Amino acid sequence: MQLNQARILLTGASGGLGTTLAQSLADAGAALLLCGRDLVGVEAINLPEYCEHQLVAADLTQTSGIENTVAAAQKFGVNVLINNAGVSAFGLLEQQAWMDVERILSTNLGAPVRLTQALLPWLQARPEAAVVNIGSTFGSIPFAGFTAYSAAKAGLRGFSQALRRELADSTVRVMHICPRAIDTPINSPVVKALNKALGSATDSPEDVAQHVLNVLSGNINESHIGFPERFFAWLNGFAPGLVDQGLKGKLATIKQYASKA
Ligand SMILES: NC(=O)c1ccc[n+]([C@@H]2O[C@H](COP(=O)([O-])OP(=O)(O)OC[C@H]3O[C@@H](n4cnc5c(N)ncnc54)[C@H](OP(=O)(O)O)[C@@H]3O)[C@@H](O)[C@H]2O)c1
Repeated sequence: MQLNQARILLTGASGGLGTTLAQSLADAGAALLLCGRDLVGVEAINLPEYCEHQLVAADLTQTSGIENTVAAAQKFGVNVLINNAGVSAFGLLEQQAWMDVERILSTNLGAPVRLTQALLPWLQARPEAAVVNIGSTFGSIPFAGFTAYSAAKAGLRGFSQALRRELADSTVRVMHICPRAIDTPINSPVVKALNKALGSATDSPEDVAQHVLNVLSGNINESHIGFPERFFAWLNGFAPGLVDQGLKGKLATIKQYASKA
């Protein structure tokens, strides 16, 4: 897809990855409809003057938020949807409030499925269209301390693959991109300390944004960022028992940090 002809709805535009992605897409010549719950964060994004853009305020876990976003997307003439909004919470499942678990499932899985479904007839009527789902390494290598988040992102992976197969005879391309840790506010100081203790690599939002642009303008639809994460995602697919064994050694450290979360 040629980015200078794309008209993109980007959710989670006020976040760490979303802000950087908006700037990179604008630099590449895309027109942007930027979505966030709180427009103050979205308004603060430094976009070049030539970038055609509009803002839409929406909580995507609410019916009204989905309806307002779809109406704004149709008015703007969107042909690309990037489902980037997300939330996380680190902690052992038994110690998490159901409200937090539900918020993680509805924001990371329910909202992108619902927004995509509502926008699909519109996208299918465009000559060229795309849906880009921002998943996570944890959707392919489910991780202790992130059970609800891993479940939601694994669900998003299944949704992306099934939808791609369902739309194989249409003009809509479905992409699924799985970053490893990114240096953004979604990760609390405890999670950043855990990543350091576990030796987990962290990417900059700029590098991940560039990866998203490469996928959008290329022809690969399923992409994991980073090695060895890509290898372990593959291994978990056919020998999850081996990955269980490998990750068991990290459990004591994860529990130690979970007690501080
Ligand atoms: N950072 C990482 O380590 C990492 C790793 C792998 C994948 N990811 C994925 O990358 C994506 C971007 O995350 P990030 O790191 O940029 O996180 P972030 O800085 O916390 O930003 C999250 C964004 O999602 C929006 N959002 C949250 N709940 C929403 C709702 N109910 N309705 C509408 N928007 C909502 C936030 O908007 P408000 O400003 O209104 O809260 C914010 O713009 C997420 O899908 C995340 O799962 C992140």
